[in-house]
Amino acid sequence: MPGIPTEELESHLTARAFCLTSAVWFALATTVGMMAAGYLIAPDFMANIGFLQFGRIRPIHVNLVLFGFVTPGLLGAAHYYIPKLMRTPLYSQKLGLATVILWNITLVTGVIALSAGHTQAREYAELIWPVDVMVVAVFALVFVNMILTIRNRREPILYVSVWYACAAVVMTGTTYFIGNVVWRPDTGALTGIPDAILLWFYGHNIFGLLLTPLALGVAYYVIPKVTRNPLYSHSLSLLGFWGLLVVYTHIGTHHLLQVPVPTWLKVIAIVDSIAMVIPVMVFLINIWYTARDRLGEIHGDIAGKFVFTGTILYFFVSIQGSMMALPQVQRITHFNNWVVGHAHVGVLGFAGMIALGGLYYILPRITGKPLYSRFLADLQYWLVLIGVSGFTVVLTIVGLIQGNAWLNGETVYRVLPEIHPYYVLRVSIGFLIAAGAYVGLYNVVRTLFFNGETERP
Ligand code: HEM
Ligand code: HEM
Repeated sequence: MPGIPTEELESHLTARAFCLTSAVWFALATTVGMMAAGYLIAPDFMANIGFLQFGRIRPIHVNLVLFGFVTPGLLGAAHYYIPKLMRTPLYSQKLGLATVILWNITLVTGVIALSAGHTQAREYAELIWPVDVMVVAVFALVFVNMILTIRNRREPILYVSVWYACAAVVMTGTTYFIGNVVWRPDTGALTGIPDAILLWFYGHNIFGLLLTPLALGVAYYVIPKVTRNPLYSHSLSLLGFWGLLVVYTHIGTHHLLQVPVPTWLKVIAIVDSIAMVIPVMVFLINIWYTARDRLGEIHGDIAGKFVFTGTILYFFVSIQGSMMALPQVQRITHFNNWVVGHAHVGVLGFAGMIALGGLYYILPRITGKPLYSRFLADLQYWLVLIGVSGFTVVLTIVGLIQGNAWLNGETVYRVLPEIHPYYVLRVSIGFLIAAGAYVGLYNVVRTLFFNGETERP
């Protein structure tokens, strides 16, 4: 972009590296997701290739979307907006770059270990001990860079995005350590019910204390910028922040309503899952009021479009989530594809869309050039949006079929032929998302490395 001083452009190395990381792993993670979905329609597909078994590639897919695509995308934006908001350069670009390199080494090590069958076999905490230590280390490094940047600030006011980014990084470093039982390297687990409680305290907080605050931080930055409206209310933004911390931190037991955990813990989890409506609506009212009368600006800006759509899907996934915490609803929705549908709307539709929005917001600003192709970015937007909407419809229908069959005492194998066509549909829709990821990767690489000054249509 003309007018941005060269030294400032050079100072965005970390943000660039996070963008590239996110785009590359998005493409790889969806490819692995397609393989996993392929197994569900043809279980013998590649069945004799040990390292590509369903049980190995499922956790690879999930860890890659969480730690490869969404988190680095959102952190890339944070490494841009924190220095901007603090009116000071990032504390150390070298440290930032080293962190991104270590982040990628961690991911590669994790993938190799999982595909070789080395797993701790706890959902969202599959990674083995050495990789766990590396994950905690990279979060610690990100935090050091952030907090030292904030210490050097020339702006006394800490805008809410900075709160969210710092909280996400500190709390994830801590809950990751606790949830992965890092002090027990041999198993990475406690025993029995306490282990399940600890695991889901952590597992839930991957969404509640990592993806959600990082995504809200980006939305709070991008929407006022794109609409050129000031944030509707700073008081509401703080209410939403503290509301999230108070309510979201301890509701992981809603994943265990069918398990003999203490009843008081289940009651707290259910009540506060419903109470989540408060911080969610406080955030949404604040953002949507900020964007009021400016939908034209949002539509005209690709970053605004991604982020705003992410906020709408946040509304959807949160209302759905609060309902899913009710035991009466879970009788139908637990243990089946309804939850997988919810997972894709949350992680891709909400957090992933906002990560892509953040990425498209910063790309021209960290390269000093226009985006390589606005057309390709729009194409990616529609591929991902149609893909995630299609996933939601298909997986919700499959979930309802499975849930009702379960309730009626039907055996699992009798239901399989009935859901087969939906699984075929899921793979077909998955192609759209995977295509979107590759289109995005191409656009990001062209913008970062080979872009001329002129914007393509
Ligand atoms: C008010 C907000 C939310 C509430 C109350 C909520 C509630 C729930 C509940 C009760 C479950 C467990 C369902 C079951 O096992 O039967 C669940 C699963 C899940 N949620 Fe949410 N959710 C919320 C928002 C989100 C968001 C924003 C994301 C993503 C960023 C998300 C991602 C997930 C994922 C990935 C799972 C699947 C976990 C698994 O593998 O079992 N949720 N949620
Ligand atoms: C090509 C597109 C994709 C396909 C075909 C796909 C397919 C799958 C499959 C087959 C599973 C395992 C479900 C099961 O065990 O029954 C899964 C799980 C999951 N996927 Fe994807 N996926 C895709 C893209 C994504 C993206 C882009 C994200 C997030 C950004 C994502 C997030 C997740 C999560 C969080 C789970 C765990 C769900 C749970 O445990 O409930 N997926 N996906």
